[in-house]
Amino acid sequence: MRVGILGGTGPLGRGLALRLAASGYDVVVGSRDAERAVSVVADVATAWPGRGLAIAGAGNEEAAAAETVVLATPWDAAVPTARALAGALDGKVVVSVANALVRQGREMQALVLPRGSVAAGVQAVLPGSAVAAAGHHLPAARLADLDDDLRADVLVCADDDGALEATVGLFGAVPGLRPLRAGSLASASAVEAFTAVLITMNMRYKAHSTLHIAGIDG
Ligand SMILES: NC(=O)c1ccc[n+]([C@@H]2O[C@H](COP(=O)([O-])OP(=O)(O)OC[C@H]3O[C@@H](n4cnc5c(N)ncnc54)[C@H](OP(=O)(O)O)[C@@H]3O)[C@@H](O)[C@H]2O)c1
Repeated sequence: MRVGILGGTGPLGRGLALRLAASGYDVVVGSRDAERAVSVVADVATAWPGRGLAIAGAGNEEAAAAETVVLATPWDAAVPTARALAGALDGKVVVSVANALVRQGREMQALVLPRGSVAAGVQAVLPGSAVAAAGHHLPAARLADLDDDLRADVLVCADDDGALEATVGLFGAVPGLRPLRAGSLASASAVEAFTAVLITMNMRYKAHSTLHIAGIDG
């Protein structure tokens, strides 16, 4: 299956592209500048030689043509980027990973958005797509290191059951990740906001923490 990543040239997009490709997906890293995406993909491939990673760099338009699309721009670019590509994204599952956060001194704080979450704002401008929220608590630095066994839970929220299951399947294919069905898009606000707490702890403890939920088997 082909996965496109809009804004895939950033740390999160690069790390996720690497993990998905290492798990057998065909990945298109998208950018506003296709040349930049090609250059970023070359760097990723150089860092992990001999892995046979199926990753290509392209413009965001080409990445949006993939079967499943991850939206990995900064939070304030997520809605405009989705809106501009609404036609190409029609009928598809779109995975929002963005967290609307602001740094205040030595901590991160979550912003309150009009629809409660970035994911809900994206769904509002993509009425023909099914949006899922997932991946917010995955540290890019650890995704980018294939020798890191991750051992992370991925909370997945969606209104559409098909989008929920497709996104669970996407992250579940990556060794070391355990996707958990965490509710509808109404819960995305809590999931996104909690990232502020994790990053604050990362700064305090000089760590790349992630989430592992106790008490759920499997
Ligand atoms: N970093 C993490 O550890 C992490 C973890 C979980 C979730 N997230 C979330 O994942 C998203 C990406 O994180 P990141 O650290 O990779 O972000 P980033 O580096 O700031 O941005 C990712 C890419 O988005 C594109 N972009 C930047 N400004 C844009 C704009 N105004 N319009 C359209 N595209 C724009 C850029 O690609 P081009 O210039 O090539 O177009 C950039 O490389 C964020 O929303 C973040 O909250 C991050």
